[in-house]
Amino acid sequence: MRVAAILTAAGSGTRLGHDLPKALVPLGGVPLVLHAARGLADSGVVDLVVVTVPRGSDGAFATAMTQDAGRLGGMTLTLAVGGTSRQASVAAGLAEVPADVDLVLVHDAARPLTPARLVAEVVAAVRAGHRAVIPVVPVTDSVVDVADGDVRPVDRSTLRGVQTPQGFDRALLDRAHAAAAHRATDEHSAATDDASLCALLGAVVHAIPGADDAFKITTPRDLALAEMLLSEVPA
Ligand code: CTP
Ligand code: MG
Repeated sequence: MRVAAILTAAGSGTRLGHDLPKALVPLGGVPLVLHAARGLADSGVVDLVVVTVPRGSDGAFATAMTQDAGRLGGMTLTLAVGGTSRQASVAAGLAEVPADVDLVLVHDAARPLTPARLVAEVVAAVRAGHRAVIPVVPVTDSVVDVADGDVRPVDRSTLRGVQTPQGFDRALLDRAHAAAAHRATDEHSAATDDASLCALLGAVVHAIPGADDAFKITTPRDLALAEMLLSEVPA
């Protein structure tokens, strides 16, 4: 079974507010996208990576990835121009995945400290027969629903936060994105993850324990936390 990873890096990082696209922002001197790619490489289970990049920044991303050609050397790397939503970027990446790949991971460059063992665990769960696999973590804050303008308490004990990498049977992910492409893909209505697109097709999604270190860098505070964690644990 050949394994490909789509590494989503085509976002601009509005909430981070940096001059660079978020995936190129340095963490410990290394771009976020390269940290994430190292995690994929270190798992030892990924054969090729398609990085989705903002239009016009192929050169900068190619340079970033070659900073660590040795460690990434076991994987074939290609770049694909992303779309206006994460969903559209994943679809663009998926279009570049060769036909002989039957297991696809979708992973955010914005999760630079994702442990390699989590990547391997997601792949193992797909190989074990689960066609859509997500890492999840408990929700720690109290949760309310404000949809109607009123505040409605929600039982958090059955809620989970969803991380990446998510792992899929390739045929299922292809079908999920093909179906989703017929719906609106603007940044407000597009899906924020891929397993939810599979669930819309009626597929069963399997959850495995996620990892605290797989948190997503969204705000400057997240980046500061990642810098702190990185300085505590030498790479
Ligand atoms: N992403 C992408 N293409 C897009 C939007 C997002 O590939 N059009 C990727 C991002 O690069 C990121 C991941 O999807 O790795 C998760 O998205 P998010 O954290 O929202 O990143 P940004 O969209 O860059 O940030 P913001 O929403 O603050 O602008
Ligand atoms: Mg975004």
